[in-house]
Amino acid sequence: MRTRVVVVGAGPAGLLLSHLLDRVGIESVLLENRSPEYVLGRIRAGVLESSSVDLLTEVGLGRRIAAEGDEHRGIHLQWTEPDGHGERHHLDFVDHVGRSVWIYGQTELTKDLMAAREMAGQQSFYEVSDVALHDVDTDHPSVTFRDADGRDQRVEAEAIAGCDGFHGPSRSAVPDAVRRTWERTYPFAWLGVLADVPPSTDELIYAWHPDGFALHSMRSATVSRLYLQVPPDEDIEQWPDDRIWEALATRLGHGQDGWTLRDGPVTEKSVLPMRSFVATPMRHGRLFLAGDAAHIVPPAGAKGLNLAVADVTLLARALTAWLVEGSGTLVDSYSDDALRRVWRCTHFSWWMTSMLHTLPPGLGDEFDQQLQLSQLRWVTSSQAGAAGLAENYAGLPIGF
Ligand code: FAD
Ligand code: DHB
Repeated sequence: MRTRVVVVGAGPAGLLLSHLLDRVGIESVLLENRSPEYVLGRIRAGVLESSSVDLLTEVGLGRRIAAEGDEHRGIHLQWTEPDGHGERHHLDFVDHVGRSVWIYGQTELTKDLMAAREMAGQQSFYEVSDVALHDVDTDHPSVTFRDADGRDQRVEAEAIAGCDGFHGPSRSAVPDAVRRTWERTYPFAWLGVLADVPPSTDELIYAWHPDGFALHSMRSATVSRLYLQVPPDEDIEQWPDDRIWEALATRLGHGQDGWTLRDGPVTEKSVLPMRSFVATPMRHGRLFLAGDAAHIVPPAGAKGLNLAVADVTLLARALTAWLVEGSGTLVDSYSDDALRRVWRCTHFSWWMTSMLHTLPPGLGDEFDQQLQLSQLRWVTSSQAGAAGLAENYAGLPIGF
């Protein structure tokens, strides 16, 4: 087979890139090792920055976001001091930086993107195996794979987009001698819970508590998404539903100032490990990495999905200039251009994580707690502090 761009991975990065390329007439072949149902069933991110929504709207994917998404002006930030004194503050992003965020589940966005790919009538192979990248630093790169019927295939292209997430094969096609990585693992994880219960809050609540961080998010008027800080590698069996609701009630401040947490049937729960990771360069020869294939952020800043959108927006512009207009300037600067935003979001996600999670004994003490509380008071009481958080959370322009 021959095509112009092989896109490896049908997560948000790969699907959106293939859509952006299709819009300018660049043909692509999409390869995914899972089934469409499996990809659609993964419960992941839920927050879209305003720049992601603007971009998706501009390229014809805004209809369901506008109809079914939920626009939020900001977030609630709260803390409960060790003596029991608690405060909740609303941080209004629109007031501070003129931008909002949208609650729209990654599964819904994936549905929209898969429908667009199908409409485009371009080739997609799901449930492939043995994906291998070849000759990426020559002018004739190719990808080999076994298709769902067990046939061995080769697809030749002008460029390969490695959008295959953290565990995919693309990143290791950049030779060790060229690749540099930065990594930070955190001494805690999140227990993520999906529950059939109307949200108990209008906008997200990020809560600092001596027992650990908690987050109240949502997916719709009838479905809540909640998270609890737990030890890394926590056994999910240790968290029967009653214990989850009890911990959420304590950490989110059930009963404080008349606020109550509604509970309901838990439909999904899993433990999410947490790390920061950046691999450079994001381009090697004719291979371009985008999204989680190149970088991972801890989830507290809600940046993972938005970074994937930003990367492929830059990449689609660069590939268009190169493959349609014959100019290599943007492909040459793709890695540096994308990494400026990646490092900004890496810092913001690390900062939110550090401010909101209690450290286990031996790694942190009451001094750390006082510093965290001081930062929380600062971002909720100072214009400058609040605007900094708002600017980063609501999202910087994609060309940042
Ligand atoms: P992915 O979504 O990982 O997509 C990569 C695709 O490549 C996958 O479909 C994968 O199956 C496919 N693939 C892998 N290997 C191969 C191969 N060999 N051949 C072909 N295809 C392959 N972010 C937030 O902001 N908030 C959250 O709450 C949040 N929760 C998360 C929970 C989990 C469990 C995970 C893993 C991530 C979460 N994220 C969250 C991060 C966010 O979902 C990701 O940043 C986002 O999905 C990145 O999109 P992507 O397309 O780059 O990668
Ligand atoms: C969600 C996840 C996040 O990591 C976050 O910071 C906010 C919301 C969510 O899944 O809804």
